[in-house]
Amino acid sequence: MYYIFSYTKTVCLQVRMKNISLKTLSDLPQTATSILDFAKGKKIFCFYGDLGAGKTTLIKELCRQLGVTDEGSSPTFSLINEYRTATPALKGAKSQNSPSGVGGVLFHFDLYRLKNESEIYDIGYEDYIFSGNYCFIEWPEKIEKLLPKDFVSVRIEVKNSVRTITLE
Ligand SMILES: Nc1ncnc2c1ncn2[C@@H]1O[C@H](COP(=O)(O)OP(=O)(O)OP(=O)(O)O)[C@@H](O)[C@H]1O
Ligand SMILES: [Mg+2]
Repeated sequence: MYYIFSYTKTVCLQVRMKNISLKTLSDLPQTATSILDFAKGKKIFCFYGDLGAGKTTLIKELCRQLGVTDEGSSPTFSLINEYRTATPALKGAKSQNSPSGVGGVLFHFDLYRLKNESEIYDIGYEDYIFSGNYCFIEWPEKIEKLLPKDFVSVRIEVKNSVRTITLE
């Protein structure tokens, strides 16, 4: 009995959690800032939440705060969108695919339409996810087994038009 208790305590201490309540779209900038602070430099973010929960909206604000200046492009039939920053990507993102070497790249995965895991292998997802650049992943459940171990989980729940975001 003692061992079970002490094990549970240890596990609880290791998991960092934070809840944020979002009532209107005007809360979005502060929420995105808090998420980036919570991440402490981690660059892979998984977004969980029902259809229409607000995953894409939040990701757009995170991209804005990280300095994204373009509309994005997708070499992968919309499963992965690529965004660029004009200056070296903020918060330490590695510069990549930039002829001048000054810009940065962020990746936004929207896996809702992913049919199976082999489809994600076909588009070479490892080149994106292990690139060292920021990756924001919607519908990560579709590739749960392929995700790196260390990522920030962002769970959005909507109740009576109030959004609660749980970070882990
Ligand atoms: N924090 C918010 N406050 C109010 N409305 C919001 C908020 N976030 C998103 N919305 C609205 O909810 C709708 C759906 O948002 P969004 O497309 O971001 O959801 P999603 O989780 O990405 O959906 P999907 O699963 O279909 O990709 C949009 O009309 C958006 O304006
Ligand atoms: Mg979306």
